[in-house]
Amino acid sequence: MKTVNSTLQMFSLEGRTALVTGGNRGLGLAIAAALYDAGATLIITARDEAQLAKAKADLLKRGPGVVHTISAELTDDASVTRLYDSAHALVDNVDILINNAGVNRRGPAENLTEDDWHYVLQTDLTVPFLVARTFARPMLHRGWGRILNVGSIFGQVAFGHRVPYGAAKAGIIHMSKVMAVEWATRGVTVNALCPGPFATEMNKVVMDDPEQFQRFVGNIPMARWGNLEEIGAPALLLCSDAGSFITGTTLTVDGGWTAQ
Ligand SMILES: NC(=O)c1ccc[n+]([C@@H]2O[C@H](COP(=O)([O-])OP(=O)(O)OC[C@H]3O[C@@H](n4cnc5c(N)ncnc54)[C@H](OP(=O)(O)O)[C@@H]3O)[C@@H](O)[C@H]2O)c1
Repeated sequence: MKTVNSTLQMFSLEGRTALVTGGNRGLGLAIAAALYDAGATLIITARDEAQLAKAKADLLKRGPGVVHTISAELTDDASVTRLYDSAHALVDNVDILINNAGVNRRGPAENLTEDDWHYVLQTDLTVPFLVARTFARPMLHRGWGRILNVGSIFGQVAFGHRVPYGAAKAGIIHMSKVMAVEWATRGVTVNALCPGPFATEMNKVVMDDPEQFQRFVGNIPMARWGNLEEIGAPALLLCSDAGSFITGTTLTVDGGWTAQ
């Protein structure tokens, strides 16, 4: 029994603080819930304040704990610095970063505009780089940190009508590896989490179209989409002491899509 208890203890986040970008709904909120259950103090951040308040109330219903919210639009280095300052006005340290906020613009490659490309690359790759770099600095100074960058299976395998999104998510995977190598001896792990399809606002357009929905299901050996609670536990592994020897990896949570 002692061994089981000490193994489970490695998943505890008691005494740790986690910041989740895009933490007011969808996958970010599902990951935040898992970290909260494991004992982390949370900061969830996104633009929509009402949705942040609702997410906070939902998290607090899970049991006692601390949840802070920061309403912030992440667009560039200055906005990331403001987020960093706001977070450190609330807590002493951020030990765990979930770099999750993201957007998508879909369409045939030949129809996509320069604005589509820049908007998605900025939000899904440049901003996550700036967030990871900025929040890593004090983690490196203290010698402990966990950074989990949310990629996508569409950064691993090609899927039509997603050129900027796929390029950004492939960038997330490689960025995570390079940061992991640089920081490997300094107590900070960096990994990429690559979800397959989950029913979130981002996927409404797919869920509302029975043909597209079935095309997705047809690619998934488990023949179903993921349930939101199936993303939190894999994320917890990479954010806790349980993942202390895991860095630079890509954890794919996709019901088998990319195994084929
Ligand atoms: N759902 C899936 O099947 C799936 C699969 C693979 C990967 N992913 C990735 O998972 C992550 C979460 O996506 P999701 O499916 O949960 O989508 P979602 O429900 O649309 O959530 C996106 C989150 O990002 C925030 N956000 C977007 N742009 C922002 C900005 N400029 N500044 C600050 N916050 C911003 C949104 O909050 P506000 O609008 O309030 O700012 C929201 O919290 C994304 O990186 C996505 O690419 C999702």
